[in-house]
Amino acid sequence: MAEIQKEAVILAIESSCDETAAAVVKDGREVLSNVISSQIDLHTLYGGVVPEIASRKHIEKINQVIEEALSTAGMALKDMDAVAVTYGPGLVGALLVGVAEAKAIAYAAKKPLIGVHHIEGHISANYIENKELEPPFLCLVVSGGHTHLVNVLDYGVYEVLGRTRDDAAGEAFDKVARAIGLGYPGGPKIERAARQGNPDAIAFPKAKVAENAYDFSFSGVKSAVLNYINGCHMKGLTVVEADIAASFQKAVTDVLIEHAMLAVDTLSVPKFAIAGGVAANGTLRDGMEKACEAKGVEFYYPSPVYCTDNAAMIGTAAYYEFLAGKRDGWDLNAVPNLKLGER
Ligand code: KG4
Ligand code: ZN
Repeated sequence: MAEIQKEAVILAIESSCDETAAAVVKDGREVLSNVISSQIDLHTLYGGVVPEIASRKHIEKINQVIEEALSTAGMALKDMDAVAVTYGPGLVGALLVGVAEAKAIAYAAKKPLIGVHHIEGHISANYIENKELEPPFLCLVVSGGHTHLVNVLDYGVYEVLGRTRDDAAGEAFDKVARAIGLGYPGGPKIERAARQGNPDAIAFPKAKVAENAYDFSFSGVKSAVLNYINGCHMKGLTVVEADIAASFQKAVTDVLIEHAMLAVDTLSVPKFAIAGGVAANGTLRDGMEKACEAKGVEFYYPSPVYCTDNAAMIGTAAYYEFLAGKRDGWDLNAVPNLKLGER
């Protein structure tokens, strides 16, 4: 039997939403370069991500970003063992730019091509700085597009325990930020405003989903915030943005932590990780850390740069797919609603 190749340097590409990113990752956990070209300033003008603008910006930037990732790593395409790319879920036009680019590069340089699931990438971000972390562990993935509570059974093997029924946690942050006039992206702006506010000032609802205790619903709290603001206007009361931000942030993070701890109690898994853009939130990180500590569970989280979209996390996930023998054909396509665990 041929020996399995354990050493691999992978060029990874990520373009599923509004960051054009490329990275070079060695053996899954050593990031040799991590280049991110953010479109935030552009989308801020419109109050959110405009899909067509995102695609156009990706096509403009992607070659520069890849070149910079390779040159920062001090390597060339010929030194890569594989080319990896996010192929879903995400915005179709945005994904297609990365997928087409990765296919062209891999084809021209005669390198294997590996399509990576975006959420698998977010989960894998935890491996970069926590060298000792290995599955099994539980992971809460909270981003602008996803809210998943996942049982990571092994590398590449996932059981989704719960997911959002409506808005993603990050999406709720973005919508509430817009409603109180803070602008895009909402998460960091709500977090900043909340520092001056009282988290117990307003009791926003913490939705429970009857059929599955692990599922989430954030559209109710978003509507409650909008109703509260309208109510203030009608009664001539002052709207205190900082109190709304702090109370909303508490309602969302409390629910996330409660569901996470339910999974810990039920499944008795001694390791818990968080991932995705909302995992950069200090209130969530502190709350999760305390809750895990109280239960004697080891808590893991990525640095903020590895929480929001980046290509290093895609390179890390790709490495474990590479070891498992996953190779994609030249017919790889973007799959905007790709489910976790599907191939
Ligand atoms: O993971 P990500 O970059 O993109 C997706 O895959 O969706 O997540 C972006 C989301 C946005 O909704 C943003 O508002 C949220 O993450 N976010 C935060 C924070 N930083 C980013 N939410 C709460 N607190 C933060 N500090
Ligand atoms: Zn993401």
